[in-house]
Amino acid sequence: MIEGNVTKSVLITGCSSGIGLAVAEGLSARGWQTFASARQPEDVEKLNAMGLNGLLLDVCDSRSIRAAVAEVLDRTNGTLDALCNNAGYGQPGAVEDLSREALREQFETNVFGTHELTSLVLPVMRRQRQGRIVFISSLLGYVALPYRGAYNASKYALEGLADTLRLELRGTGISVSLIEPGPIRSRFRANAYLAFQRNIDPVRSLHAAQYATMERRFKTKGSVSIFTRGVGTVRAKVVHALENPHPHARYPVTIPAYLFDFLRRFLPGRALDRILWEVGEAERR
Ligand SMILES: NC(=O)c1ccc[n+]([C@@H]2O[C@H](COP(=O)([O-])OP(=O)(O)OC[C@H]3O[C@@H](n4cnc5c(N)ncnc54)[C@H](OP(=O)(O)O)[C@@H]3O)[C@@H](O)[C@H]2O)c1
Repeated sequence: MIEGNVTKSVLITGCSSGIGLAVAEGLSARGWQTFASARQPEDVEKLNAMGLNGLLLDVCDSRSIRAAVAEVLDRTNGTLDALCNNAGYGQPGAVEDLSREALREQFETNVFGTHELTSLVLPVMRRQRQGRIVFISSLLGYVALPYRGAYNASKYALEGLADTLRLELRGTGISVSLIEPGPIRSRFRANAYLAFQRNIDPVRSLHAAQYATMERRFKTKGSVSIFTRGVGTVRAKVVHALENPHPHARYPVTIPAYLFDFLRRFLPGRALDRILWEVGEAERR
């Protein structure tokens, strides 16, 4: 984006597919100097070929985070106007079936890496006295669904960090926004299935029957809900958070995200639980 003859710069994580890629393409088309990062060299090449300043960045690797930020600052004369924390995945499985390692992996990507990258960028934004930070959270950052405990916990944690950061940055010129999508078409489900296969033993679990249904659904493309939307709906909210003079603290995306935001405020806990349990059941039918 060009503002007062100055091109604004943005660093985005997880741009190999889905929301990250769509946001990178969209912001680049709007004139942003876009640094689109991914953790696999072949994806970085693909992003470079698309003119998106591909950058190697694995949020689970501190060295990779530091190298990527150094490279961006090198190419922008030490400035960065915006950071879009998008990289993430969902680890399915019942809470009691999650190993400490699986939960740790989930937090390394969705929370710890995101926190480390943000903390590294903040001094730059503080020096500039301006900046925009966006966290791609989820509807599951404020309501829970069965068999999503690891992902739920990681996105709740992300919301806690972002909300605290917004308070701590009051008056600095740096804004913090949470994007809270419901179901979006991307590689998210395919990657969640990989995490399931990696970390859950479905046969020896008390939840074997539920896992069997879950796996059937993972394998059928038709199981996407009628509420599922394209990545463009998320991109539009990110653009608002980065370009509008008055960015919002949170942006629900899709009908379920608005609906559950409303229900959690007005329903007693027991009634909300009942609905969330039904949604979980319907998802596994
Ligand atoms: N799709 C949905 O329904 C939905 C709903 C709510 C929120 N979200 C959130 O939206 C964000 C983007 O997901 P998506 O839907 O676009 O799914 P996606 O297509 O699976 O994209 C996820 C991206 O994150 C990257 N990633 C994973 N681990 C990483 C790591 N350690 N370092 C750097 N990048 C890493 C992936 O890279 P690789 O290709 O290398 O794995 C990929 O580029 C996630 O934070 C997700 O939680 C998605």
